[in-house]
Parts: sequence; C-alpha cells; structure tokens
Amino acid sequence: MSNFEIVAREDFSDVTYLLEVRHPLMAKAARPGQFVIVMSHPHGERIPLTIADFDRAKGTITLVIQAVGKTTKEMQQSCVVGSSLYGVTGPMGIPSHIGKVKKVACVGGGLGVAPIFPHARAFKDNGAYVIGIVGFRTKELMFWEDKFRACCDQFIVCTDDGSAGIKGNVTAGIKKALRDHPDIDEFVAIGPPIMMKGCAEATRAHKIKTMVSLNPLMVDGTGMCGGCRVKIGGEVKFACVDGPDFDGHQVDFDDLMTRLRRFTEQERTAVERWSENCRMTNPLQTLKTRIPATTEEAEFPDPFDEVRGG
Ligand SMILES: Cc1cc2nc3c(=O)[nH]c(=O)nc-3n(C[C@H](O)[C@H](O)[C@H](O)COP(=O)(O)OP(=O)(O)OC[C@H]3O[C@@H](n4cnc5c(N)ncnc54)[C@H](O)[C@@H]3O)c2cc1C
Ligand code: FES
Repeated sequence: MSNFEIVAREDFSDVTYLLEVRHPLMAKAARPGQFVIVMSHPHGERIPLTIADFDRAKGTITLVIQAVGKTTKEMQQSCVVGSSLYGVTGPMGIPSHIGKVKKVACVGGGLGVAPIFPHARAFKDNGAYVIGIVGFRTKELMFWEDKFRACCDQFIVCTDDGSAGIKGNVTAGIKKALRDHPDIDEFVAIGPPIMMKGCAEATRAHKIKTMVSLNPLMVDGTGMCGGCRVKIGGEVKFACVDGPDFDGHQVDFDDLMTRLRRFTEQERTAVERWSENCRMTNPLQTLKTRIPATTEEAEFPDPFDEVRGG
C-alpha cells in the first residue's frame, strides 16, 4: 500500500470532487496557501493542487479538484476510496502570511472557495473578525457552507442566478462587506484570475491590502523551468517559489490570463486521445466529456472556474 491512500471522497457536482488523502507528514507541515504536486499514477502528469484542508490529528490532507482536462478527468474516474495517489510532493510555495489583523475578508470564487478555507480558519484562530465571501454560479454548486460558518463572523454568499444569497458575483459581496465594514484591514482572494482581478480593482480605491493566489501553468514547481512566471509590479516572479500569494494591486492579470491559454490546442488533443482510449477500453462507457469541435470552442475554462454544466 502506498502512503498516499485516498481515505474519503465526496463529489460536489459532475465536475468537482474532493479527495482526502492519508499523508501524516504533509498534514503536519502544511500551512494555508501551500500546494502539492500530485502524480496519480507512475506515467501520470504532475499537476499542482492547493491543500484545501489538513487534519494533523488524522494525518490527512484534502484536495478539491475540478475535472477540466485529461489528468483531472482521469483522476475523477480512477481516484476512489481505497486507491492511492502515486506521488504527492510538497508542501510547496510560501505559506500565506496570516498577520495579526483585526478584520479580514476571505473571498473565494468557484473552486477558489476550497483553498480560501484554511485562510479563514487561520485568521479566526489568530483572533481576527473574519468575513467570508463566497461565490458560485448557482446554489446547487455550493459546498462547505458549514465549515465556513463555523469560522466566519459574517458569511456572505453570492450566486450568479440569485438562487442563494446576493444575486451577482463576489464583487457584489465585496461591495457589501466594504459598506458594512469600513475598517477591513486586509482582503485575501482566491479564484479565477478574472475574479481576483475584480476583487483587486474593488479594493484599490480603498487602499486595502489585497492578497491573491496565482495559478499559472507549473511544470517542475521548483523555480527551475520558468513556466510559472508572472508579472508583479513590472517584475518577473515565479509563482511556485516566490508565491503563489502576491499583492493583487501589483499583479498583471491580463498577462496571466494570456499565458494560461498558451496550450489550449495541446490540452484539447490530450483530452481527445484520452477519451478515445476510454471508449476503446470500455465501449459501454458513456463519457461525460464532450470533445469540443474547434480550437476556439476548446478554450477550456480556468481550472478555478465552475466548468460548463457543472
Ligand atoms: C498553485 C496551483 C494550485 C492549483 N490548485 C488547484 C486545485 O486546488 N484544484 C484544481 O482543480 N486545480 C488546481 N490548480 C489547477 C490544476 O493544476 C490544473 O487544473 C491541472 O493541472 C489541469 O490538468 P489537466 O490535465 O486536467 O487539464 P489540461 O487540459 O492540461 O489543462 C486545463 C487547464 O488547466 C491549467 N493547467 C494545465 N496544466 C497545468 C499545470 N501543469 N499547472 C497549472 N495549471 C495547469 C490550464 O489553465 C489549462 O488551460 C492549481 C494550479 C496551480 C498553479
Ligand atoms: S513551475 Fe517551473 S519555475 Fe515555477
């Protein structure tokens, strides 16, 4: 048996799933904001995933994953309770700075709701008044409400369709928080780049410190390949070793979004090949994957965003 046994799994939607993985050393070392690089099998791609929770007593870490491409879809099928991950490297990245602030707003959009949870809990443990702001497309996609309510003094839910909380995206929740609390010391935001950009814009005029967690393409995760370079205040930084947290008011989000789209064609081909292989090995299987017909159509959603149909 490998050390990295999957001890629990929960499916939040057709595309979002949680894996609780046994890894006592990782659980002991993990800090909010850090991530692991996972290989699900010996020939698998190494993919970065944020440590969305850790339980030192149980010796487990929790990953919340969105099935957006070949590897995450493959893991959605193969990672069942009792199976194991082949490799889990980390904890990687500089832990988030959980300062002694009086009032903090923790903002999570879509899949970013999971990785913002350790921040909310850590700020609460540090004595802060914590405002949780989470955004989903619709009520059915919501998860971890109880966990957030347990560590937030105020919890603001936003849904695009208004099926729960405020109708609108997290910017509506941020505006409410700013109205209710002119004394917020810091914002922390995790989600799709467009959402983090919106958050940084909303707080800029108020001159409130706003930290964001960036998710560029990563290869080695050790600062060697340069794949994860991002532009911060005009300077080049490597998100894997200099981040992933950065000052949101300094981030060049447009550059980040352009770089995230660089391999769309290759990603489409990888899903196509994998789906074809699945059909050949199990012709009865009905794949949820719909292969986009064109490159334009294949512009995969950001992994932190809620996937179409999710
Ligand atoms: C620090 C960090 C933390 C992350 N945390 C999570 C998380 O907690 N949950 C989650 O679902 N996803 C997370 N991601 C994104 C996740 O790594 C990608 O979704 C995954 O690598 C996609 O692989 P794929 O083969 O399924 O999809 P692909 O088809 O290969 O790619 C789909 C999209 O995922 C992104 N992506 C692809 N390869 C990488 C890579 N090597 N590194 C980063 N992004 C990539 C690209 O935007 C791409 O368009 C994180 C990324 C980073 C950098
Ligand atoms: S992933 Fe290679 S330098 Fe960051």
